[in-house]
Amino acid sequence: MISSRAPLSKWTAGLFFVSFLIYLVIVNRLEVGQFGRVADLASFSSRMLMNLPSSGSGDSSNLHDTISNSGVITAIDNMVNQIGVAGSELTETRVKDISNEIAKQIADYVVQRLGKTATNSNPCFGCWKYGNATDLPVIYLVTPTYRRPEQIPDLTRLAQTLLNVPAVHWIVVEDSSTLSPAIASLLKRYGIPHTHLKAQMPDKYKKSKFKPRGVANRNAALDWVRSNCKSGVVYFADDDNTYDIRLFEEMRFTKKVSMWPVGLVTKVGLSSPVVNDKGVVVDFFDGWMANRKFPVDMAGFAVSVQLILEKSDVYMPYVPGHEEDGFLKKLDISPADIEPKANRCTQIFVWHTQTKSNTPANRTTAAGKRYKGTNIDTLQEWIV
Ligand code: UGA
Ligand code: MN
Repeated sequence: MISSRAPLSKWTAGLFFVSFLIYLVIVNRLEVGQFGRVADLASFSSRMLMNLPSSGSGDSSNLHDTISNSGVITAIDNMVNQIGVAGSELTETRVKDISNEIAKQIADYVVQRLGKTATNSNPCFGCWKYGNATDLPVIYLVTPTYRRPEQIPDLTRLAQTLLNVPAVHWIVVEDSSTLSPAIASLLKRYGIPHTHLKAQMPDKYKKSKFKPRGVANRNAALDWVRSNCKSGVVYFADDDNTYDIRLFEEMRFTKKVSMWPVGLVTKVGLSSPVVNDKGVVVDFFDGWMANRKFPVDMAGFAVSVQLILEKSDVYMPYVPGHEEDGFLKKLDISPADIEPKANRCTQIFVWHTQTKSNTPANRTTAAGKRYKGTNIDTLQEWIV
């Protein structure tokens, strides 16, 4: 019995082994069929598409990324069909676009369904002072800007400053005949309440050595304020200055005109009202007095909307170096009306920085055949 069992168990073992191999092949095929296909098709994972860190397994078909609810799958299939995958080649970018579109549709729907009941969780970090107060006077921040290599970096910096400021309305006025799509998308992306306008410097000033920079832009913004605002504060914030977010809360409750020091102005490094020991503005300190009644920098004052509305023709003159003085003189104010801010003008919350100007880039290298169809092709659009 024992001797006859030995060959049989060998056969049995062999049979088991072969069955096991067949089993392995079937299971593997099944797995490839169920999940492997995704991995075969896509060289990128859903996490890569969403700029999320890898899930660790490095496997794009990770179960955690996969939806199991069949109702949800049907809904997504419907959305994909509605957006349409036909026509163009199904690239990683296209998959990302389709995913973004679906996310957008879902977000729109969720906002419609739940938006009314949601409370305002404004992520504005500038609520450092007031929390989520909604009844603050609005600061109408007027920024003239013009196309140059530093334009987008300068505006990016300013936009990110303004993300920290509650109740601000950013009036961006381009010295250009057309509105730049890059700026429009920057404004949209940050979600800061804004108005995007254009106003060109008149031709007759363009050739002069000293140009009235940003004057047409600011005057267009003043027109907009006159037609659209009843209260609040106007502040002229050039696109290249550096602003401490505390500045905005200094100017917020300006009655007529408020003023404060500006750093990095002229050879004396500073422009400021002179404030006496009673906290009254008695004079001005500036490296270039030039016989001005108000020798101050554009970044050194704010005006109440009400005061602008009271006067009929408050505009900025096209006189280089005298824009501020001309504008303030039109407001008909006396030194006693000026509110000194920034702790009686003892602190500097804004600097007249100037971004080093760069020569416009030579685009021919990036346009070369060698880079066709690569990221350099896309980046071309951003080169100024
Ligand atoms: C200084 C003042 O701070 C400006 O308010 C004033 O308009 C200018 O001098 C002047 O009198 O010429 P500065 O730093 O020398 O400013 O000038 P920029 O920063 O080059 O220009 C002021 C603003 O106007 C900026 O926001 C800029 O983007 C804009 N600008 C400049 C235009 O819209 N078009 C231009 O052709 C030049
Ligand atoms: Mn400047």
